[in-house]
Amino acid sequence: MHSRSPLMHNYWFEQQGLTGTYVPLAIEPEGLAAALRALQPLGFAGCNLTIPHKQDAMAIVDEVDDVAKRIGAISCVVVRDDGSLFGTNNDWLGFIGNLKQTQPDWRADAGPVAVIGAGGGSRAVCYGLMQEGAKEIRLVNRTLEKAEAIAEEFGGPIRALPWDERHDALDGVALVVNTTSQGMVGQSELDLHLDRLPKTALPADIIYTPLESPFLTQARERGHATVGGLGMLLHQGPPAWKLWFDVEPTVTEELRDRMERSIAGT
Ligand SMILES: NC(=O)c1ccc[n+]([C@@H]2O[C@H](COP(=O)([O-])OP(=O)(O)OC[C@H]3O[C@@H](n4cnc5c(N)ncnc54)[C@H](OP(=O)(O)O)[C@@H]3O)[C@@H](O)[C@H]2O)c1
Repeated sequence: MHSRSPLMHNYWFEQQGLTGTYVPLAIEPEGLAAALRALQPLGFAGCNLTIPHKQDAMAIVDEVDDVAKRIGAISCVVVRDDGSLFGTNNDWLGFIGNLKQTQPDWRADAGPVAVIGAGGGSRAVCYGLMQEGAKEIRLVNRTLEKAEAIAEEFGGPIRALPWDERHDALDGVALVVNTTSQGMVGQSELDLHLDRLPKTALPADIIYTPLESPFLTQARERGHATVGGLGMLLHQGPPAWKLWFDVEPTVTEELRDRMERSIAGT
């Protein structure tokens, strides 16, 4: 019920001149199947899913695409013309789209990447980085087994590293991404020393409450350009619209500004 997604999608209904609305629905886990089945008779074009429904919904919808299977979660459901439910995951497009909009010169193969954290957000980030051609991904997680599981499932350039190697893992990277919940409002800060981070490296966070995490504040004060997490949320929206309505709205400065003001509570 604290989601900022209605603000974003309702901005796009206005931008696109479409009559419609995006509503937050608080669904208990035991009601998820009934809620998803109700989308079609209630006239919804689809929905997004957030914590804790992203995994459970996979077993409820009629078809899940390969991207969502790989990431292990669905973030978006489409009600098809025949009433069946299709699930996909656009979080990786959000992460990559945001990087490209805010840092147009960014390239995944510019150098090694460090990804801190191995939860659901991390899986989408790692998938996106691999799709973009990252050659080396150092995946560090407090629970090593979860990083190892991603490395095994995704293969390719991902190498799992134990938590106590997180500071050294920044040596020579071009990009470092925090995908842990550390630094989020109400959580302790991410314990990561930036001494080894090259001055040219780009630090990114997928957290957007606060808008600038303590990790990014520390990096900015060290002179780095930084990428915050709000843009990931913004940029997973247009691919969903493409599926729901066959139009692609744009992430404007005005929208970003409205979202920032809403999150900052002004
Ligand atoms: N911008 C966006 O669109 C977007 C999208 C998705 C997620 N997010 C944000 O990303 C963050 C993570 O979400 P998620 O869905 O990936 O959560 P998740 O699946 O629960 O994963 C949480 C991650 O944080 C790590 N962690 C938790 N407490 C820790 C601690 N005390 N010390 C070190 N590591 C710790 C976990 O490590 P263990 O494996 O050891 O538990 C795990 O790697 C949240 O802030 C969420 O809001 C943003």
